[in-house]
Amino acid sequence: MYVGGRQPLHLQEDFCGTALLSTEWLRTDPRRTAVGLDLDLEALNWCMENNINIVGADGYSRIFLFHGNVLQPNEAKLVNYEPAELIRSIKLDECDKKDCTPQVNASTSIGTKSSRINTEQLPSRDIICAFNYSCCCLHSRKDLVLYFRHVLSALSKKGGIFVMDLYGGTSSEQKLRLQRKFPNFTATNVQYTWEQAEFDIVARKTRISLHFHIQKQQKKMRDVFSYSWRLWSLPEIKDCLEEAGFKSVHFWLREMPDTHENRSTTGFGAGRDVKYEEVKSFQQQDAWNAYIVGVAK
Ligand SMILES: C[S@@+](CC[C@H](N)C(=O)[O-])C[C@H]1O[C@@H](n2cnc3c(N)ncnc32)[C@H](O)[C@@H]1O
Repeated sequence: MYVGGRQPLHLQEDFCGTALLSTEWLRTDPRRTAVGLDLDLEALNWCMENNINIVGADGYSRIFLFHGNVLQPNEAKLVNYEPAELIRSIKLDECDKKDCTPQVNASTSIGTKSSRINTEQLPSRDIICAFNYSCCCLHSRKDLVLYFRHVLSALSKKGGIFVMDLYGGTSSEQKLRLQRKFPNFTATNVQYTWEQAEFDIVARKTRISLHFHIQKQQKKMRDVFSYSWRLWSLPEIKDCLEEAGFKSVHFWLREMPDTHENRSTTGFGAGRDVKYEEVKSFQQQDAWNAYIVGVAK
């Protein structure tokens, strides 16, 4: 839509966690490649052990998970995974920069002993994404612009896009506790709680904690995930993308269910069919969710 009929093949999932999205990306087209980048080595290893096998044997040759900081992507280290049947030793410099999928000399089974690879030697990315509000992990404007510059330099010059999400609304700037039940989340019933601490309006920061309650086992798991987030505004994101050199920025928004009426919901709850729309303006709501698209050129 924004880049004129190009078929995207190369995805980069920043702040990827267990890189489930990358796995789904690879599953749907054998030509696709995925790069994932995250600070959490345990989550990356979990992906290698539990997600990639769903793609099929060639999944390991099409995914590149990097352990490192999005602010220093060239310092990130490639996470190796080498099931015995997939031993490879193709050198990176044997690769033609334009079309081939680079390989590395793998020398370890999984995780910690990893090799550094220049992410610029991978095919330039058609899409780079930062989902689940991960840009809120970056707290200063300087870091946000630096991150967006790194994104822009890794995107395809033929028409690459960056996509991120953001939430907001009056409910996002106060203490809040939302519970959701997912009857089929795992084999057991799980209740999941999103807890938002007080909101500091000077730093625009809050702490988000996720708790799980596995009901059949009567097991409560507190602070399974906990993040310190700066809640950016939409125009701040736009300004930073433009400052980093993006050509255009687009907002897709939808209203979310009112948090006063939906403190406790089952599944995705009311309003799951409300569609996102591209907007130039949007009136404040109790809760909204946005996807922001930055077009490289
Ligand atoms: C909200 S989680 C999102 C994870 C994943 N995208 C998902 O939806 O499951 C944020 C992730 O960003 C990672 N992270 C935070 N700061 C980072 C940074 N500066 N560089 C790389 N990863 C970072 C964390 O380790 C965590 O996995």
